[in-house]
Amino acid sequence: MQYDQLLPFPAGFLWGASTSAYQTEGAWDADGKGPSVIDARTQFPEGTAGFKDGVDHYRRFREDVALFAELGLKAYRFSISWSRVIPDGDGEVNPAGLRFYRELATELRAHGITPIATLMHFDLPQALQERGGWASRSTVDAFVRYAGVVFDALGDLIPYWLTINEQNMMIMLGEMLGTGTTGGRRAVWQQNHHMLVAQARVMALAHRSLPAAKIGPAPNVACVYPATPDPLDVIAAADFSAIRNWLYLDVAVRGTYNPTAWAFLRARGWEPEFAPGDAEALATGAPDFIAFNYYTSHTAAAPKGDDTDIRANGDQHIVLGEEGVYRGADNPFLERNEFNWEIDPIGFRTTFRELYDRYRLPLLVTENGLGAYDELTEDGRVHDHYRIDYLAQHIRQIQYAITDGVDVLGYCPWSAIDLVSTHQGIRKRYGFIYVDRDEFDVKDFARHRKDSFFWYQRLIAANALPE
Ligand code: BG6
Repeated sequence: MQYDQLLPFPAGFLWGASTSAYQTEGAWDADGKGPSVIDARTQFPEGTAGFKDGVDHYRRFREDVALFAELGLKAYRFSISWSRVIPDGDGEVNPAGLRFYRELATELRAHGITPIATLMHFDLPQALQERGGWASRSTVDAFVRYAGVVFDALGDLIPYWLTINEQNMMIMLGEMLGTGTTGGRRAVWQQNHHMLVAQARVMALAHRSLPAAKIGPAPNVACVYPATPDPLDVIAAADFSAIRNWLYLDVAVRGTYNPTAWAFLRARGWEPEFAPGDAEALATGAPDFIAFNYYTSHTAAAPKGDDTDIRANGDQHIVLGEEGVYRGADNPFLERNEFNWEIDPIGFRTTFRELYDRYRLPLLVTENGLGAYDELTEDGRVHDHYRIDYLAQHIRQIQYAITDGVDVLGYCPWSAIDLVSTHQGIRKRYGFIYVDRDEFDVKDFARHRKDSFFWYQRLIAANALPE
């Protein structure tokens, strides 16, 4: 639909930015922190150093929050490292870990920035992994206990909570992301079920113990186009969307599995086992909003029914395909970024509309952004006009979605500050703030404002995209 005029962004719109603990904090074993599955990894993509140093945010968080305040952020979405709070995942609580997040949230609020906290962003405690990880039902109880500890300690400071970041990517591509969701396909779908039960119980717990707080899931959501109008391609696209998007959100919001996704699991003998009480737990976990990450759309064609349906080489947005369900296809209408991810701002609007049509809940964007090989120039700046273009195009589409009638709470692009990417190390940067470290030489971690910093600062101040 075209409009003569777009509605403005509402007053109080949460202009924010995002990070995660393991990609920024560093200090991976400081002050009693236990190792997570990420810290326990020994294999990293070639030429990358891993995550142990991050961008030293643990030690520099006050300097970083001052920069976020100068940027004008209204909200900051970060994650809590479970093994910093409970080093072995289920035992003693580490007061120093809780103190760090209390100080961070207090500092944010002192600068007028609303904290938005994710309970788990890929970094399951390694001790739990060694006891079975998400395959074990005891991890469900451990997650609920951890959430209770964190709600008690931080609930007075943090009004918005996210359960598990990108559960769907962990399930589809866990080995690639190093999240501990491993084993055969059947095992991984059981792990998924345990995470869904854990999430539902934690949402119910939040509503009981923090009645003023709001909580929601945070999957990666992407609209899926059929490669052509061939009805077989249309079915393939709908099937992929059911497995990729709706499986997770139907359970989170409606408390039951999506029928198409369940049929997919059943046909392969991968349907998870329900323990007594699971169905009731799923039914009670109603989110207050849906947070979602969006980087790109996808395109699907009818499957051939053999292993050529799967495009195997690449990262999380390149590896596509499910034998007998759909084949990934290129979209000839879209440009690509340096990492071959398709860039689709209008798909962002479509994704908003699909989510809101299905669930009629407020939507919060918790990731969206452009990874690039930024260059620090002699004037101490990064001239990242490409990032400004990307963000401007996507923000314009949020305004279209708002004009379409979608209830959008806020926009927290990835990332507030440079951080270590999941696959390409620190070289692939997303932040408004450049951090001076190289892959193997962490240098002095000095912070530099990029051109996008000043652009986003003006946008937030005006509560509008610059003309
Ligand atoms: C999301 C994750 O999948 O995408 C982030 O939640 C990640 O942790 C982001 O960094 C971008 O992906 P990448 O691979 O470019 O770091």
